[in-house]
Amino acid sequence: MRERTFVMLKPDAVQRCLMGNIVSRLENRGLKTVAMKFLVLSEAQAAEHYAEHVGKPFYPGLLEYIRSGPVLAMVWEGDNAVNVARQVMGDTRPFEAGPGTVRGDFGLEIGRNIVHGADKVESAQREMAIYFSPEELVNWTRIDDKWLYE
Ligand code: RTP
Ligand code: MG
Repeated sequence: MRERTFVMLKPDAVQRCLMGNIVSRLENRGLKTVAMKFLVLSEAQAAEHYAEHVGKPFYPGLLEYIRSGPVLAMVWEGDNAVNVARQVMGDTRPFEAGPGTVRGDFGLEIGRNIVHGADKVESAQREMAIYFSPEELVNWTRIDDKWLYE
């Protein structure tokens, strides 16, 4: 099922110069870029993004982390894009993430886990609307589309 998902490279990914590496992994897997934006989150954007975690013990630290520097907000499209992107990212806790995943290859701690990916289609739609207007989502065809899909 063709889906769009929302992925964000967190401030540690940017500072550790991992953006190109992670974007390559998503491209190589077959997902297609629909939108990208490099920005520092406002307080309002961060609060909206992490609304589901309000009140949890890690919430204040999470907001501080996500606003601590620039991030790369992105929309990616492809068959099962939500789950595929989360597979590329690996488990939330980097010390449990498998080798070959972003978190398994580059991370150790949950509070510095490099990347965010929407957990379902509805979350992806909610999250992409925080960062992108509908006109900023680009429709195009990858030239290798017919070799990625039957
Ligand atoms: P994400 O939303 O960032 O893709 O990660 P996720 O779905 O795998 O994990 P989620 O439960 O949604 O948690 C969101 C982010 O909060 C931080 N966190 N810290 N210290 C802690 O116990 C803790 N638990 C969660 C992580 O940065 C996690 O990615
Ligand atoms: Mg989550």
